[in-house]
Amino acid sequence: MPVRPLESADYDLIAPVVDDWWGGRPVRALVPRLFFEHFSSTSFVIADDTGVCAFLIGFRSQSQPHVAYIHFVGVAPSSRGMGLGRSLYQAFFDRVLALGCTEVACITSPVNTGSIAFHQRMGFSLVRTGAEQDGIPVCLNHAGEGQHRVLFHKALETTVVA
Ligand SMILES: CC(C)(COP(=O)(O)OP(=O)(O)OC[C@H]1O[C@@H](n2cnc3c(N)ncnc32)[C@H](O)[C@@H]1OP(=O)(O)O)[C@@H](O)C(=O)NCCC(=O)NCCS
Repeated sequence: MPVRPLESADYDLIAPVVDDWWGGRPVRALVPRLFFEHFSSTSFVIADDTGVCAFLIGFRSQSQPHVAYIHFVGVAPSSRGMGLGRSLYQAFFDRVLALGCTEVACITSPVNTGSIAFHQRMGFSLVRTGAEQDGIPVCLNHAGEGQHRVLFHKALETTVVA
């Protein structure tokens, strides 16, 4: 299925469904409209006749231009396991590599074991901070008191032309 850039109008399709896609977790506040309006060149959607099947919101770091950051990725429950998440990540890697980025970072909750497994398949390593939760390396209190997060890092592979 084709990957296209995220558009402002996608907000009205995606925001109402994300809590369901995250298994009832209230995540809608983490995908504000501003991302759809100001990060479209580094964010992507996969859609079909029935609507949005998957989306990725990412950007190039303003303070560390060699770093790209993936803020959110979601695939509709009925469309998982079909490679859509991988396609979105590949589109993002290609885009930020073209912008000159050499690293990609992102985070997830330590309870989101599916996300951890997915990111490892996408070539990310878990950043070791010295702290662990249930045997998983975490950054303590990353998102507030008691809100530990798993930090991911991936070096982008550049093709060297001899
Ligand atoms: C995590 C998520 C984005 C994966 O999307 P997806 O389209 O199902 O993933 P893909 O089909 O592209 O899978 C890519 C690889 O990851 C693996 N993978 C994906 N989800 C996995 C899971 N839950 N457990 C183990 N491996 C998983 C696949 O087996 C595949 O491996 P392979 O290519 O070596 O065979 C999707 O499950 C999702 O939207 N989850 C809810 C939202 C969420 O947690 N987002 C991430 C945090 S912001």
